[in-house]
Amino acid sequence: MDRKVEFLYLQQEDCVKAGGLDMTGTMKAVERSFFLHGKGDYIQPGKPVIRWGGPETEETIGRIMSMPSFLGGSENADILKERDLIGPVNTSGIKFVPSRPHNPAKYNLPRANAVIIIVDPDTFMPACIMDGTLVSAMRTGAASGVAARYLANSDSRIMGIVGGSVQGITQTMAIKEGVQSLEVCKIFDVNAEASGRFVEKVKDIGIEMDFEIVDSAEKAFTGSDVMSTATMAKEPYVKPEWYKQGVLHCEISFWDTPPEALTAFDFVVVDDWYQVKHHGVDVSWRAVRDGVIPEEKVRGNLGEIVAGAKPGRRDRKEKIFFNPIGLGIHDLSEAHRIYQNAVRMGIGRKLPLWENPAL
Ligand SMILES: NC(=O)c1ccc[n+]([C@@H]2O[C@H](COP(=O)([O-])OP(=O)(O)OC[C@H]3O[C@@H](n4cnc5c(N)ncnc54)[C@H](O)[C@@H]3O)[C@@H](O)[C@H]2O)c1
Repeated sequence: MDRKVEFLYLQQEDCVKAGGLDMTGTMKAVERSFFLHGKGDYIQPGKPVIRWGGPETEETIGRIMSMPSFLGGSENADILKERDLIGPVNTSGIKFVPSRPHNPAKYNLPRANAVIIIVDPDTFMPACIMDGTLVSAMRTGAASGVAARYLANSDSRIMGIVGGSVQGITQTMAIKEGVQSLEVCKIFDVNAEASGRFVEKVKDIGIEMDFEIVDSAEKAFTGSDVMSTATMAKEPYVKPEWYKQGVLHCEISFWDTPPEALTAFDFVVVDDWYQVKHHGVDVSWRAVRDGVIPEEKVRGNLGEIVAGAKPGRRDRKEKIFFNPIGLGIHDLSEAHRIYQNAVRMGIGRKLPLWENPAL
């Protein structure tokens, strides 16, 4: 019997050809993983993190995370189809994702890079090994995009972004995809050049909004219906009085909002409260841990709202804080979408793991 094992290798350019920059597709993949999470059809151990000090050193020295997960779908195949959420996944994978904060300034390289492995569901041999850097950035945007679809006022007109780098760009793509009524996007970055590059990039991608560079975070927040903070800030700077009534604030970075500001919100939604507590960095967890807000203020996981088990927004005046830590199931769901597209389109290279196992 032939014992050769091959996997499909997808470099980032292959991922792009296979639809890696198609935010509509990424949103479907990420909503699928939220839905299956809400249905309990997943396995996702707490992520191991290598870091060289306390949580704050993630913003200075960096970190290396491993994010294994399994996603099902068979039992909910009909609902996935009804909701146009691609279909079942029924396999496992892992994202290996280092973050090195000095990379952009020192080497003109992205802060984060990632590699994803998807296994064959029968043999558990690798079926696909791919760049995960693009998947990771797109799925983080899409998590906020899905949050915006379920939690923002559907007639929102103005959004604000603080932090105009990789994540700021995908936040913008996805939030606009989630709330089509948005017309204006205000951008603030401490590095004015980054704001300029942001505007160039989002226009190049073809996002249809008026973009306005502002010179303070306060101006990005003031009057915004949807906010996203995606920075490498080391100190909190957000003031609760900046929030408009009815705002949705998606905080994907960690130190922008002080715990006390969470008292301004009607409720908090996370992606997975167990993972948020396990990582111990998100402001929503620090606010609960330090008794600044009661744990009941955390309404639950977005997947529970997507699956209809918990209510989302009930009143257009509610202020809602979405605080995801980032889930391996999102990476797996999006990577699986790209992998399936690549197989269908004949993209990528087959590489052998071995011709014949030595032992
Ligand atoms: N929660 C999640 O799921 C998730 C997933 C991926 C990334 N992230 C986080 O997203 C953040 C951004 O990632 P990135 O890859 O875009 O990082 P990056 O290093 O490429 O860019 C960070 C940007 O923030 C700007 N910035 C730093 N401090 C600022 C401040 N106080 N005010 C305004 N702008 C400021 C920088 O000038 C830079 O343009 C990181 O904190 C990262 O850990 C979160």
